[in-house]
Amino acid sequence: MHMVEIIEKKRDGKALSTEEIEFFVRGYTEGTIPDYQVAALLMAIVLRGMDDRETRDLTMAMARSGEMLDLSDIAPIVVDKHSTGGVGDKVSLVVAPAVAACGLPVGKMSGRGLGFSGGTLDKLESIPGYRTDLTVEEFKAQLRRIGIVLTGQSANLAPADGKLYALRDVTGTVPSIPLIVSSIMSKKIAAGADAIVLDVKTGSGAFMKTVEAARTLAEGMVRIGQEVGRKVTALISDMNQPLGFAVGNALEVKEAIETLHGGGPEDFREHCLVVAGEMLYLGGKAADEAEGRRMIEAAIADGRAWAKFRELVEAQGGDTAYIDEPERLPKAALIETVAAQADGYLAHVQADEIGMAVVALGGGREKKGDPIDHAVGVVMHVKVGQAVAVGEPLFTVHANDEAKLREAKQRILAALRFESEPVEPLPLFYDRIVA
Ligand code: URA
Repeated sequence: MHMVEIIEKKRDGKALSTEEIEFFVRGYTEGTIPDYQVAALLMAIVLRGMDDRETRDLTMAMARSGEMLDLSDIAPIVVDKHSTGGVGDKVSLVVAPAVAACGLPVGKMSGRGLGFSGGTLDKLESIPGYRTDLTVEEFKAQLRRIGIVLTGQSANLAPADGKLYALRDVTGTVPSIPLIVSSIMSKKIAAGADAIVLDVKTGSGAFMKTVEAARTLAEGMVRIGQEVGRKVTALISDMNQPLGFAVGNALEVKEAIETLHGGGPEDFREHCLVVAGEMLYLGGKAADEAEGRRMIEAAIADGRAWAKFRELVEAQGGDTAYIDEPERLPKAALIETVAAQADGYLAHVQADEIGMAVVALGGGREKKGDPIDHAVGVVMHVKVGQAVAVGEPLFTVHANDEAKLREAKQRILAALRFESEPVEPLPLFYDRIVA
C-alpha cells in the first residue's frame, strides 16, 4: 500500500477502504509515515469529507492504536462525559463528583486548554499537589476504591489522536466533522466507559459556531458510540457567553467549589444539573433525566457531592487546605473592575475573544508546553439579556502584569455589544441527541 495513492484517492473525493485507513493510522503512530504526507491527507479529508463507514473505521483505528481499557472488572457500568470545548466550562469539576456521590463510578481522562477553550487538567492543577498523570493501574485502583478519577489522558491510550491532534493544530485541519468525531470518540472508546454524555457546545465560544454544525457533529458521535456498543447521548448547549461567571483556572475552581456547596451562578448550576442528571439516567441509576436531576440536587444539598470532590482531591495528592479555604488558591496581584459607560442591555458576547484574553493574561498557552499562570482570568458580572446602568460593574480582570491587564480590559470590552432595547436571554440547551 502506498501513502501517495491514499492521499490522491481522498484528494479526488473517493472513499478510503478500511485497510487504507488502518495503514495510515498505524504508519503515522509508529513513525513510518512522515508528517507532511499525513498533513496532506488531513487537508484532503477537511475538503472532501468522509462517509459514516470511513469515520467509524478512522475512529476504531485510532482507538486501537494503543491500549484499550476494560473496566468491567471494576464496576458493571462506568460513566464518562466529554465537552467539545468552551469558555468558562468547569462542568466536569461539579458533575463528576456529584454523579459519583450518587453511586455511579466516573472514570474520566480530561484534556488541557486548546486555543480559546480551557481544559479541566489546567484547572485542577491550580490545587497544589493535584496529580493529573495517573498511570492506567492507578486509574483503575482509584476508580475501584473511591468511584471517581479525574486525570489526564494516559500516553498509551489512543496515541494516534495525540499525534494527529498536534499536527491538525498547526496545519489548519481542526474544523472537520469526521476528524473531530474520530478524535473525541477514539479517546472515549479507548478509556473504557460504558455510558458517555457528550456536551456539544455551539456559539461564539465553541468550535462549532452554528447549532446545525453542532447537531451534525453530535449525531456522528452518537451513531459511532451506538455502533461500537457504548451508550451515548449528546446535549447541544449554548456557548455564546462564558458558562457561569469565572474564566481562568483558579477562579473557575473557586466557582465550582461554590456550586458544589449549593451556590454558584444560576446558569452554571442548571447546566450541571442537566448534564449530571443525564449521566445518572444513561448509566442506569435513574429512571429518567428528571429523577437523575433530583438525585444530583439532593447530593449537592446534603454535602455528598462536596465530600466526593474532597475525596478525589485527596486521593490524587492535592492539598485539601486549598479547597477547604479557596481564598488560599493562587491569587493575582492586580484586580480591576470595568464598569458600564452607558445604560443598555448586553446583547452579544464574543466568547472566544474572552477565552483568548485569558490566554493572553497567561491563563492558557500560546505555544505547546508554555507554563500556565493559574491565578489570572476574568470574572464576568453580566449575562446576555441583562440590563446594566452606567457605573455598574461589567467584569473584573485578575492579572499579574500591568500591560496585560490593560490589554485584557480593552479586549474584553470590545467583545461585548450593548443595545438600548431589551434583549432575550440565551437558552442553555438547544437539543438532545439520543441513539
Ligand atoms: N476536542 C478533541 O478532543 N478533539 C477535537 O478534534 C476537537 C475537540
